[in-house]
Amino acid sequence: METDSQASTTTPEPQKVRRKNVFSKTRDAAAPEFQLPTGLKFDSRLEMDGCEFLRLLPAESVPAVFFDPQYRGILDKMNYGNEGVDRGRQRSALTQMKDETITAFIHSISKVLTPSGHLFLWTDKFHLCTGFSAWLEGTKLNTVDLITWEKTRMGMGYRTRRKSEYLVVLQKLPLRAKGVWTIHNIPDVWKENHKPNGWPHRKPVELQQRLIEAVTGPGEVVVDPAAGSFSVMEACMNSGRNFLGCDLNG
Ligand SMILES: C[S@@+](CC[C@H](N)C(=O)[O-])C[C@H]1O[C@@H](n2cnc3c(N)ncnc32)[C@H](O)[C@@H]1O
Repeated sequence: METDSQASTTTPEPQKVRRKNVFSKTRDAAAPEFQLPTGLKFDSRLEMDGCEFLRLLPAESVPAVFFDPQYRGILDKMNYGNEGVDRGRQRSALTQMKDETITAFIHSISKVLTPSGHLFLWTDKFHLCTGFSAWLEGTKLNTVDLITWEKTRMGMGYRTRRKSEYLVVLQKLPLRAKGVWTIHNIPDVWKENHKPNGWPHRKPVELQQRLIEAVTGPGEVVVDPAAGSFSVMEACMNSGRNFLGCDLNG
C-alpha cells in the first residue's frame, strides 16, 4: 500500500500539450455565387481586350486571378543578342503592354477580387529587381509570397542564360492565410518543363493548377485577362474550376 510520503514523491504525469495546428486544409472564405455576365462563357477562348473584359465582371466576385503581362521592359532593357532571329520576331510580334496598361489591368483585377482573394502575377527578372510597387498604388493588393519557376531548359541572356521565371503572389485585403490557403506543400522553387507548344510565354499548367486548388473551391471562378495559350484554362479544367478569360489575339 502507498504511504503518504511515497505519494508526495511520485512524479506527476506530464501533461499532454495540445499543439494548435497553424495550417488549415479547409476554406472558410467561399466566394459568393457568381453571376455570369451576358455574353461571357466559361471555359472558352474569348477574343477581346483584357481591360474591357475585366470591366464586365461583378465587383468582389472572383477568388483568384492570373495575370501574365506582355512586358515591354525586358525588350527595352535586356540584351536579346543571343536569341534566335525567328524566336525574337515571334516574341516582338505579340502586343507589348505599356506600364499604364499593366497598372490599369491590376486596378481592375483588385476590384473584381473577393476580399482576401489572390492575384498571381508573372514577372520577369527586370521588373522583379527594379520593383513593381507603383502598379499596386491605390489598390488593396499586397505581396505575400514569391515562387520561382525553374524551367529546366536554358533560355536566352547575354551575361547569364535565363532558366527561371517568377510568380509574385498578391493578396487583396484583409490579409489572411488560414482558412483561405489550403495546400501547404507547394515548394517556392517549382521545377516543371517549359512546354512552349508554339507559345514562347506559356506558363506551367501543373503549378497553376496547384495554386488554383490552394485558394479556390470546386466550381469557383478563376480569371486570366491576357491568357495567351490559355494554360490557366487547362489548369482550371483539370481541377474542376470555372475559367473565364480572354486574349487580344483569341
Ligand atoms: C505573356 S503572354 C501570356 C501567356 C500565358 N500566361 C500562357 O501561359 O500562355 C501575354 C498575352 O497578353 C496578350 N495581350 C496583350 N495585350 C492585351 C490586352 N490589352 N488584352 C488582352 N490580352 C492582351 C498577348 O496577346 C499575349 O498573348
